[in-house]
Amino acid sequence: MSQGWDSSIKDELQMVEQEIHRSIRSEQPVLTEICDYVITSGGKRMRPGVTILSYLANGGKEVGEAIKIAAAFEMIHSATLIHDDINDRSEMRRGRLSAYKKFGLQQALVSGDFLFVKAFAIGGFFNEEIVSLVAEACTAIAESEIVQFEKEGEIAPLDVYLDIIEGKTAKPIMAGARIGAYLANAGPDRIHAMGEYGLNIGMAFQIVDDILDIVGTERSLGKPRMVDFDEGKATLPLIHAMEDRQVGPRLSQLFHKKVKTEKDVEEALALISRTKAVELSMIRAKEYADIALTALEGVPDSIYKQGLRKLAETVVDRKH
Ligand code: IPE
Ligand code: IPE
Ligand code: MG
Ligand code: MG
Repeated sequence: MSQGWDSSIKDELQMVEQEIHRSIRSEQPVLTEICDYVITSGGKRMRPGVTILSYLANGGKEVGEAIKIAAAFEMIHSATLIHDDINDRSEMRRGRLSAYKKFGLQQALVSGDFLFVKAFAIGGFFNEEIVSLVAEACTAIAESEIVQFEKEGEIAPLDVYLDIIEGKTAKPIMAGARIGAYLANAGPDRIHAMGEYGLNIGMAFQIVDDILDIVGTERSLGKPRMVDFDEGKATLPLIHAMEDRQVGPRLSQLFHKKVKTEKDVEEALALISRTKAVELSMIRAKEYADIALTALEGVPDSIYKQGLRKLAETVVDRKH
């Protein structure tokens, strides 16, 4: 029972890696070097995994197309991470220096664009429906990032937070799940159900990510913690902690400081731990994961469906 969510698709995920490596070749070796640095530094491969599992769980037999799309999704994801670390001024990613820290701002910026374009060029986007699903997902990321910048430093209301994480994280995963089913020739109801699955594990995943920013360790996360607080991003656990009558006012004072010292961050951590913020956020993450599991009910049993189920459980159980 200790097998991972991706144990049934190890070969396919290996093929995804090969596809990515083929796609990031360039006449300018530095572009390939930077993309390779980011891609080989690890990552859970959740986005390609969802696409492939969705394809196979829905009866897909010619996995080649799904692998191409899966590779494209991982490349888009990696591109957004390169750009995200620039925007968030994050120095560590996947246990290494982030790309802009290692190679410089200009090179990293262009490499992110290059990776994006190569994802679209991968050859899998041969039909209008797929192009528009992928484009919609990328649009959602961009729009949510803008809303997130605009809300930086504010304690955003819950619905704004939920909209942001839906756009930046859940919608791209939703698109991968839908396209997997679409390529497997699933009917509209099943494609819709797979979309619901992807959307809801995405929501659960991002909430847990925001919880780990508070309770995780730098070692397991591959990046420092309390970054969201430091940057003035009101995540779900912070929103909940701020609602606490006892610690809320002081926490809010610290949150609104433009420059936060190490001592401020430590005090904030101690205040948050006196509230039920993490537990309440975890309850909500589990609710999303449960909706994802329910969406799978109509999918016939298979090792791939088990993988999807296991992923929904892992997303809320993970420590990194
Ligand atoms: C990081 O995603 C960005 C978020 C949406 C939180 P992942 O945690 O899936 O990143 P990798 O691919 O495993 O490094
Ligand atoms: C990054 O979001 C995910 C994107 C889609 C751009 P975050 O900024 O919340 O993720 P981490 O914490 O840097 O991985
Ligand atoms: Mg960000
Ligand atoms: Mg970030």
